[in-house]
Amino acid sequence: MPSKEILKYFDATVDRKTRDDLKLAVNLVDDIKVAIDCGCGAGSDISFLRSQDFIVHAFDIEAESISLCRKRFEDDRDVLLSQASFKTYSYPSASLVVADASLFFCPKEDFGEVWRKITNSLIPNGVFSGSFLGPEDTMAGPDYNKESYWPDVLVLTEEQVKKLFSNYKIESFSEHRTSGKTPDGEPHQWHIFSVVAKKAI
Ligand SMILES: C[S@@+](CC[C@H](N)C(=O)[O-])C[C@H]1O[C@@H](n2cnc3c(N)ncnc32)[C@H](O)[C@@H]1O
Repeated sequence: MPSKEILKYFDATVDRKTRDDLKLAVNLVDDIKVAIDCGCGAGSDISFLRSQDFIVHAFDIEAESISLCRKRFEDDRDVLLSQASFKTYSYPSASLVVADASLFFCPKEDFGEVWRKITNSLIPNGVFSGSFLGPEDTMAGPDYNKESYWPDVLVLTEEQVKKLFSNYKIESFSEHRTSGKTPDGEPHQWHIFSVVAKKAI
């Protein structure tokens, strides 16, 4: 059973606004429309991708996320859901890979292999849209509540993030530093790198 904080997070993000990066990414996909949503949570990105006529493969480690999405998309045969982790998921071939606020929680020791799988799943000219946690985020420090949220945290510097994209053309790179409160009401300092990039042929 997920924590009450995770349940609250899913509840608060069911209909969250689509991020501009994902809108840009969708416009950069040139032919077949097949997407993978990694760590799909409550399914808001799945919903947007379906509105743009993508076939969507989506996975999440949380049973609650997958059961929520199964209910939400129960009549939609073009949403293919799996309960899996970044490491265990069998990545199909795709023209778009989305990983919004999810690779933050990939165990460090798995990330090299996971990143290779993500890159290999993209067809030539395929597009990646996702975000990475920076060192100044609250989650990178001692105040992050690992009992309530996902315990593994992957922190990358700007240089490390950019290095991941040596075989891609970066279309958008932005660093976000904001302060606010989590859906649970806790103060939070966000430090996030968002990237949209096209895989080289
Ligand atoms: C902050 S939420 C983001 C959810 C969604 N992408 C969004 O933007 O609304 C992080 C998601 O990553 C999932 N997650 C955490 N660790 C994971 C792992 N090792 N493998 C796959 N998904 C994971 C969580 O269950 C959660 O749904």
